[in-house]
Amino acid sequence: MFKHVKKAPADPIFGLNEAFKNETSPNKINLVVGVYKNEDGDTPILECVKKAEKILLEKEKTKSYLSIQGTEEYTNTVKELILGKGSSVLAANRAATVQSPGGTGALRIAADFIHKFLPKSKIWLSDPTWENHRQVFNSAGIETAFYPYYNAKTKWLYFDGLIETLLKIPSRDVVLFHACCHNPTGVDISKDQWEVIAKIAFERGFLVLFDFAYQGFGNGLDEETVAIRLFADKIKNFMISNSFSKNFGLYNERVGALTVVTENSDEAEKVLSQLKICIRVNYSNPPGHGSSIVTTIISNTELKKLWMDELKEMRDRIHDYRQKLVNTLKEKGVKQNFDFIMKQRGMFSYTGLTPEQVNKLREKYALYMVSTGRINLAGINAKNIDKIAQAISEVIKIRVSVL
Ligand code: LMR
Repeated sequence: MFKHVKKAPADPIFGLNEAFKNETSPNKINLVVGVYKNEDGDTPILECVKKAEKILLEKEKTKSYLSIQGTEEYTNTVKELILGKGSSVLAANRAATVQSPGGTGALRIAADFIHKFLPKSKIWLSDPTWENHRQVFNSAGIETAFYPYYNAKTKWLYFDGLIETLLKIPSRDVVLFHACCHNPTGVDISKDQWEVIAKIAFERGFLVLFDFAYQGFGNGLDEETVAIRLFADKIKNFMISNSFSKNFGLYNERVGALTVVTENSDEAEKVLSQLKICIRVNYSNPPGHGSSIVTTIISNTELKKLWMDELKEMRDRIHDYRQKLVNTLKEKGVKQNFDFIMKQRGMFSYTGLTPEQVNKLREKYALYMVSTGRINLAGINAKNIDKIAQAISEVIKIRVSVL
């Protein structure tokens, strides 16, 4: 029965993480997966989460099923966090939100919904994008295409190319944008540029799906809703997939949501009923623990403040290491300009290292990063920064001597 089944290639992110576990070098360094780490290289449970769990342990009375879309308290919390408390969309009940197993789950629900109700639509992804995007949509039967995003020469946004392509995208298609902290490049779209994009989306009528997985990791929780707020003011229909894996550190609880902004409350109700079917046929209803943690924290003034402080601490630590990495590379005599790392935002830096250099770093220095040259800055600490900068300076030299 299964003789024809061939071994699939390892996942480009989690596969490398597995390889790292088997790495025997005592000096091994892991900058692969987008998971926050502290100075000790650990991913601890946030204090606000621990406190919320204590409250839940006392208060929780049942483990019975949640409703298909999750609790109302949770979906309202999501709406307020991603759209903002005073949002006109919320006042008009124009948003249908469903809980999802993480951001990936939200994308899959969106994909199933798009495939069912916009069957001829292609989805446009940024070039480059998160390694998993293409297969999430392809496996739901949706064709993918790419719009230019990153200019390898300037190490920054290729805005002209992006706009040129957007102007040609058919109105029936879907365009996925990273709302902030672009994964993998760390190169974000500015407010002025979002205004141009919103205007084109309005005029051409394509549907925008925001992937919002890193809220709070760039400039701040509210600051990063800029694109979504702009769209909420101008555009009748768009979608947001969000995740609390990173900003609450709830990676293995799989807690996220899909929000569909509709023209009016009647449409929101109909869309919600269909999203529920997409969920019911996939995994029936969502898990409860992670979402209870989120609502417990957000509904408690003290815990909410603690969460915001802890989130700021994570954001600031990552940001400090941008500067520290650039400085240490300079100290190692690296002539190549890495100042662009300072401008990037979020957990990642797209270093510009080639796949050959990345291989060399892994084989010779046991330094692991994604083959595209993406590094997780949170994986850097005082103990390993020197080794990282030294190894990068060595592989850069190798390239120069070959040339
Ligand atoms: C990443 O990009 O490393 C994270 O979002 C983890 C994942 O699921 O790929």
